[in-house]
Amino acid sequence: MKDTRVKKLLAAEKKRQQSVVNLVASENYVSDDVLEALGTETTNKYAEGYSGARYYGGNEIIDQIEDLACERALKLFKLNPKKWGVNVQPHSGSPANIAVYSALVPKGGKIMGMSLDHGGHLTHGHGVSFSGKFWEQIPYGVDKKTEKLDYDALIKIAKKEKPDIVVAGFSAYPRKINFKKMRAVADAAGAYLMVDMAHISGLIAGGQHPSPFNYADIVTTTTHKVLRGPRGGMIFARHDYGIGKKAPKVKKGAKQKMAPTLFQQIQKSVFPGMQGGPHMNQIAALAVALKEADSVSFNKYTQQVVKNSKALAGELKKLGWRITSGGTDNHVFLMDVWKEGITGKEASTKLEKEGIIVNMNTIPFDTRSPFNPSGLRLGTAAETTRGKKEKDMITLAHRINDILRA
Ligand SMILES: Cc1ncc(COP(=O)(O)O)c(C=O)c1O
Repeated sequence: MKDTRVKKLLAAEKKRQQSVVNLVASENYVSDDVLEALGTETTNKYAEGYSGARYYGGNEIIDQIEDLACERALKLFKLNPKKWGVNVQPHSGSPANIAVYSALVPKGGKIMGMSLDHGGHLTHGHGVSFSGKFWEQIPYGVDKKTEKLDYDALIKIAKKEKPDIVVAGFSAYPRKINFKKMRAVADAAGAYLMVDMAHISGLIAGGQHPSPFNYADIVTTTTHKVLRGPRGGMIFARHDYGIGKKAPKVKKGAKQKMAPTLFQQIQKSVFPGMQGGPHMNQIAALAVALKEADSVSFNKYTQQVVKNSKALAGELKKLGWRITSGGTDNHVFLMDVWKEGITGKEASTKLEKEGIIVNMNTIPFDTRSPFNPSGLRLGTAAETTRGKKEKDMITLAHRINDILRA
């Protein structure tokens, strides 16, 4: 690289990544093959539209790359291409979610999503996000005592508020999600069920978490968390009108005889609705990552991610730290550091000084602000990629304890 300033910064970031312990729950380390695909000539290509129907010439190779990514995505999640379609063009997770709402929720309609302080994502209807500005959020949270989802309570909210869409899938929820029960929540309102599996899509692919596809109408995901792909997003949608829903009537004389299916609506919503040209280098790298994830070694990796998360949370608990909901079933958990008199910000700064990277996070029913909350969010996807095992997690728990109590 001729640009020495950027070269130096890139080398410094590489060194930083290699030298820290990374417990950021949403990060991972991609393979050299994924990195190689990202840095290819595909970044030069404009490909507005979809395979076989582009607005630019010269896309015969690009079409094959995008088709391959779609084919691998459906295969990885064991989906029948006659029943499900996938859009691999969303630039990331947030645009994927917004594209779904734009397609399926009328202006001013209601999104029932978990509130941010209980573990939801900004794009689940929070007021500072586009999703809360254009639509109304019907917030839900976890049970105060168990800090887990109380599905009956959610059904009551859905019946009362009649949301247009129910969102399940979170940024900081350490427990398995019962998608059958989330379906019942959506059905109580006649709503669509959208599962945002961003955090857990890798665990689902690896068989460590139940699959949502039998119950969801739409499934969105990022591609760069446990799934270990490049940054990006995907939307899976049914080739029908939603579970239990009939085809809406079309106006007399309309060009199209049948109303567009969910998948057709999503395709239109991503392009031309929300985005222009897809990032084809991302999509090429995604194709690589999806093949990597469709393997026995990836299954073993995801198994280890969960084992490590349980080991780290378990040891911290033994050392006297409160873990919300009492533990974890997945790659992530929340530590209530404020219970020991340290704020989330102080705790994350102390750890960073010693080379351990985490993120401060609200805990359910937090009495503090998101800018200096009561908790820390810890995750094991990245360190497991580096080969860490349970015994390393035990040592790490003691290091964290020593640093925070010093
Ligand atoms: C559940 C969930 N959905 C969506 C997103 C948004 O993804 P992105 O940051 O790629 O826009 C995140 C990001 O952390 C997330 O946790």
